[in-house]
Amino acid sequence: MNKVTISAPGKLMLFGEHAVVYDHPCIATAVNQKMSATVELSDKPDFQLNAQDVKIKDYKKPLSQLGKGEIPKNVKFAEIAVKNFFEKFNLNNGIKIETHSDFSSQMGFGSSSAVTVCIIKALDQLFNTNLTNKEIFDLSYKTVLEVQGKGSGFDIAVSIYGGTIYFQTGGKKIEPLKTPQLPLIVGYSGTKADTVTLMKSVIKKFADNPKRLQEIYNEIETIVKKGKQAIENSNWQQSGQLMNENQKLLEELGVSTPKLNAMIKAALANGAYGAKLSGAGGGDCMIAFVPADKLKSVENAITKTGGKIIDVIN
Ligand code: MEV
Repeated sequence: MNKVTISAPGKLMLFGEHAVVYDHPCIATAVNQKMSATVELSDKPDFQLNAQDVKIKDYKKPLSQLGKGEIPKNVKFAEIAVKNFFEKFNLNNGIKIETHSDFSSQMGFGSSSAVTVCIIKALDQLFNTNLTNKEIFDLSYKTVLEVQGKGSGFDIAVSIYGGTIYFQTGGKKIEPLKTPQLPLIVGYSGTKADTVTLMKSVIKKFADNPKRLQEIYNEIETIVKKGKQAIENSNWQQSGQLMNENQKLLEELGVSTPKLNAMIKAALANGAYGAKLSGAGGGDCMIAFVPADKLKSVENAITKTGGKIIDVIN
C-alpha cells in the first residue's frame, strides 16, 4: 500500500471553551462536515502538499528541510505533523499530500486539527505503526502545540473519536458520551476568528483581576458538569438554560461580538431552549438547542440578523 485517504469530522464546542485551556473540562461534538487527506509515498525525497481549499498549490520542500525555515501559515500543520511522525519513528520518506475540506476553514470547525489527525492516521497506516487512538491524539496534540503554542486539544479528540465527548485539557480525560441526536442549530456569523488572539485577549482583559478569571473558569466547569448530565438525560430544556449561563460568562470574558449576541438573542426570542457562541468567539459560529416545532422560526430569525445557517448533523 502506498496511498491512503483518511477523513475526520470537524467540531463544535457545546460547553466549556476557554476554561478548557486551563485544566477544566468541556463538552464538544462532531459535525457531519469532514476534512480529508490523501497521503502517498513518493520516490522523490520531498514533502509535497496540495491544499486547494486554502490556496496551497504544489508546495514542495526537501525532506532535509522538513519543519525548518519559514513555513507558510496554511502548510504548517501538515508539515509539522509529518515531521513529528517521522521523528517519532525515525523515518525519512518522500511524501505527497492532498487535502480536501467539506467546510470552509473560516467557520471555526477545526480544519487545522482535523487535517493534522487525517495525516497522522494516514501515515500510521502507510508505515504500519499501529498507533492507538490515544497515541494518535498525543502526536497530533504535540503538532498543534508546536504550531500555535497553546490549546486544549479538544478539537483533535473530536476528530479522532467522533460523536460527543467530555474532554479535559491535553486529553487527560476523553470520555465519549451516549447521546441521541442533539437538537442543534448552527449559525455562522460571517467573520473568521483567530483562536490564539482570543485566548491572549482573555488573559490581557483579566491581567488586573486573575481572581475573577479563576472564578469564571470554575463557574464554567460547574456548567460543563451539569451539562454532561443534562445531555446524557436528553434534558434539552436544562441544557439550553446552561448554554445561556455559559454565554453570560463568555460575554464577561469579552469574547462575544455584537453580531453573535444578535444571533443568540434572535434564537432565544423565537423559542430556542438556549444559545451561545461556540469556540473561541470573536466571530465564527453560534449554536442553539431548539425544539423541533421552533426549528424553522429560529432559523429564519438567525438569518434575518445576517447570520448563515450551517446544515450540520451531529
Ligand atoms: C477554540 O475553539 C476553543 C478554545 O477553548 C481553545 C481550545 O480549547 O484549544 C478557546
